[in-house]
Amino acid sequence: MSELLVAEGISARYRVDADEPPVRAVDDVSIVLHEGESLGIAGESGCGKSTLASVLSLNVHPPLTVTSGRLELAGHRLSLTEPGWRRQAEAMRGKVVALLPQGAMNVLNPTRRVSDFVYDVLQSHMPGISRKEAVERAAERFEQLALPRRALDTYPHQLSGGMRQRVVAVVSTLLDPAVLIADEPTSALDVSSQRALLKLMAGLLERRIIRGIVFITHELALLRAVTHRVAIMYAGQVVEVGPTEDVLFRSAHPYTKALMDATIVLETGTRRQRIETIGGAPPSLVAPPPGCRFHPRCPVAMPICSRETPPVVTVGAGRTAACWWVAERMQQAAAPAGAGAAGGAGPGAGAGEAEAVGEGHDTRAASQ
Ligand SMILES: Nc1ncnc2c1ncn2[C@@H]1O[C@H](COP(=O)(O)OP(=O)(O)O)[C@@H](O)[C@H]1O
Ligand code: SF4
Ligand SMILES: [Mg+2]
Repeated sequence: MSELLVAEGISARYRVDADEPPVRAVDDVSIVLHEGESLGIAGESGCGKSTLASVLSLNVHPPLTVTSGRLELAGHRLSLTEPGWRRQAEAMRGKVVALLPQGAMNVLNPTRRVSDFVYDVLQSHMPGISRKEAVERAAERFEQLALPRRALDTYPHQLSGGMRQRVVAVVSTLLDPAVLIADEPTSALDVSSQRALLKLMAGLLERRIIRGIVFITHELALLRAVTHRVAIMYAGQVVEVGPTEDVLFRSAHPYTKALMDATIVLETGTRRQRIETIGGAPPSLVAPPPGCRFHPRCPVAMPICSRETPPVVTVGAGRTAACWWVAERMQQAAAPAGAGAAGGAGPGAGAGEAEAVGEGHDTRAASQ
């Protein structure tokens, strides 16, 4: 499968006050989105999901700055720290990558009709377009995606929250961006509006209006329903990546495992709801803990975990986890019979039940 978005070594920070140390909201994150794919990003509140969404969608504005990283978006390469990247980003925003931000429905101006919003969006990218052409283009797209054409003539308050969210999603993709970054698009929507939005997003992909989605959510049921693969973030970093079902139900990383254990099953196999029961709290991103950032909360932490950054270990086909304990388990599994048994058996907890036995570990690989 070809790569549609490649992010390598992205670090981004907020510097609110010049005298204060910055908030290291995203630190050395590497991810890949393949052609036709929906990639989920999940993790506790404050772990850097929205910041990553801002960077991937090229919406980086003060106090946020990118301190390192490289992006490739539908064949366009950007080095995020080189002069001139902002100009390049400006030209690509909306056309190559679009953001559906958290609370997107609120971007509609209450005093202007939806058609005015459409015109503003299209005109900013296509200065010569007439109002009539812009509205006609939107009307065709609305019909294609089963949204009522008459919504274009309304003011936002005349639409339900769910419809406003769908309208913004469709207008954000009018320029056929290759990639849509959707940041918790269904939060604050009732169940039927959630379903309608998910259907709409599936329609965008099926019709190849967009070619891939990064779908940020902390709702695990949605990850299962919508995404092919998922990346789990903790304290500004990606800790595990892989096919959604594998990551959620055969978690390798102790944090993913803890996140899943903090989930209650409401209806067998289908509906899940997060409850906050992971012991301790996420660390400050101003001064995150050294070594593995999860070590103060990790039930299987080892001495090395508080000293050194964990390696990114391949734990199965298309699966990686950044963890010393997983690395040790993999090494033991790969060792010839009789050798390495004294290497210290890992704790009995379930993480790393990786069906990854026999696969090597790759400290170079970006999480992908
Ligand atoms: N505008 C901002 N100024 C300073 N810090 C911010 C700002 N926005 C987010 N942060 C901080 O960056 C970190 C990551 O936040 P965010 O990306 O919003 O996480 P998530 O979307 O996973 O909840 C948090 O510590 C948050 O407090
Ligand atoms: S590296 Fe160590 S502290 Fe971090 S998750 Fe793995 S075992 Fe736990
Ligand atoms: Mg967020």
